[in-house]
Amino acid sequence: MRNTRNREDLHLISFLLFFLLSYSAALFSPPDNHLVDCGSSSATTLDDHRVFLPDSNCRSARLVSGGPKISVSADGESSLDREDLLYAPVYRTARVFTALSSYEFHISSKGTYIIRLHFYPFSTRRHNLSSAEFHVFSSVFVLLSNFTASPDTSSLKEFILAVNEEKLVISFVPASSNSFAFVNAIEVISAPVDLIGDTARYVQPDQIVRFDGLLKQAMETLYRINIGGPKVTPFNDTLWRTWVPDSSFLDSNSATKTMYFSGRIMYQKYGASREVAPDSVYNTARIMDVSNSSDSSSRMTWIFSVDHDRRFLIRMHFCDIASLALNELFFNVYINGYLAYEDFDISAATGRVLASPYYVDFVTDVGSSGLLHLSISPSRIGAASRVDGLLNGLEILKINNTAGSLNGELPVALILQSSRRGTFGSTLRSLICGLGFMILSVIGFMLMLRWRAESKNRVSWSPLPMDASGGKNAKWSQTV
Ligand SMILES: *[C@@H]1O[C@H](CO)[C@@H](O)[C@H](O)[C@H]1NC(C)=O
Ligand SMILES: *[C@@H]1O[C@H](CO)[C@@H](O)[C@H](O)[C@H]1NC(C)=O
Ligand SMILES: *[C@@H]1O[C@H](CO)[C@@H](O)[C@H](O)[C@H]1NC(C)=O
Ligand SMILES: *[C@@H]1O[C@H](CO)[C@@H](O)[C@H](O)[C@H]1NC(C)=O
Ligand SMILES: *[C@@H]1O[C@H](CO)[C@@H](O)[C@H](O)[C@H]1NC(C)=O
Repeated sequence: MRNTRNREDLHLISFLLFFLLSYSAALFSPPDNHLVDCGSSSATTLDDHRVFLPDSNCRSARLVSGGPKISVSADGESSLDREDLLYAPVYRTARVFTALSSYEFHISSKGTYIIRLHFYPFSTRRHNLSSAEFHVFSSVFVLLSNFTASPDTSSLKEFILAVNEEKLVISFVPASSNSFAFVNAIEVISAPVDLIGDTARYVQPDQIVRFDGLLKQAMETLYRINIGGPKVTPFNDTLWRTWVPDSSFLDSNSATKTMYFSGRIMYQKYGASREVAPDSVYNTARIMDVSNSSDSSSRMTWIFSVDHDRRFLIRMHFCDIASLALNELFFNVYINGYLAYEDFDISAATGRVLASPYYVDFVTDVGSSGLLHLSISPSRIGAASRVDGLLNGLEILKINNTAGSLNGELPVALILQSSRRGTFGSTLRSLICGLGFMILSVIGFMLMLRWRAESKNRVSWSPLPMDASGGKNAKWSQTV
């Protein structure tokens, strides 16, 4: 009797626990979620209910500026297109820096962070933000160098990096002494632990090896694509990301069709979670079906222009929403012509569950071409299947170089050094100016004294008859 009772309790508890766990999994709430509306004097709420706090009075972000704290506001109507409307409220103001300045964010849980910097270069009577040229860096990594925001459009720069200190410092410094830096808004969000793993498949010309240490790299998101589906906005994404459609990157020779799945996406414990990519990414795909055509060498290919001579992380998201049964879909993945994954077996990868999300991370080096060709092609296995290849989502991230920089070749230390030299130069200049002014003032003061003395003497001495030169000498000796 007692035993059954206990068992019932246990059931109830495990049910509650399960409920709580699945509930908390559905609503990921990051330990740190610093949203800052730079240059603003009051909090700003976006349509997706996120609240950006003003940087002038914000407990989570401290602004340390080496110069005056200048905030600017857009005068008239902005020419934002529809894409930018979500963030439009935080594009109305910006913070302008004329010297090295930093935001310090309190970090409550060390680990991987997502950092988003928003730039919308409006123009006021005193500041044309399109003409700003500057560098942005953390204490370890250079995020942007010699950066100029393209006019009449907004730029969102997203970085993913590990923070192992109690605070994250993001610094801005003008690229030259007559330039300035600016930023409209900053997001610093703790990433879920499973967002970035430490290993990947390193695709090299002649082999695939294991890449370790992904968590030590800083990355910049270049492309985030919802393959075969519509644009996904921060409204529908678990981490407020934007995923764009793939059609403009698809090689026109690819014989493909898009697919939409209205069933339930089966997230598995060891597969991709809803934070890795949302339902809206996994429930659409582009598939290839070559069973009608005799050409089995066909591929579906996407082409991306990226920086040359850099290393990239390529994340491919798969969710078999097309097959009617398990163990039918097998395909090959090619990266810049190299076989990156042969006979990928999505059923085995997902633990034999259909419509279950899974992703594969590839690391590859791009040479002087600056192009990434990504292809899916049918495998020799499963040749008679309904579907011969599938892709649901794609992310391309740039990895820092050996100097710890994501843009440019200089490390943080050299940028700091040259900015100090810049400040030193300007200090020297102002010192010289100040000295010059002092000397001029002293001379002016002495001249005035002399003039006063002269005029006084002129009054008292002028009645005396005297020749000009003698009088002058006499007056001088009198005053002194
Ligand atoms: C601001 O600067 C950019 C680039 O220097 C220039 O193209 C633009 O015309 C300027 N805008 C205004 C309003 O002066
Ligand atoms: C995004 O969410 C809205 C409502 O929450 C829904 O109407 C819309 O279809 C979703 N878009 C996508 C691409 O899933
Ligand atoms: C192959 O043929 C089937 C039926 O004949 C058709 O539904 C399908 O769209 C065709 N696939 C392609 C890629 O043409
Ligand atoms: C990126 O920076 C980290 C930390 O400084 C370094 O360990 C790593 O080797 C760099 N990555 C590359 C590809 O050089
Ligand atoms: C900025 O550009 C100048 C001129 O091209 C270059 O000399 C300098 O190294 C660049 N600075 C950084 C931080 O990349």
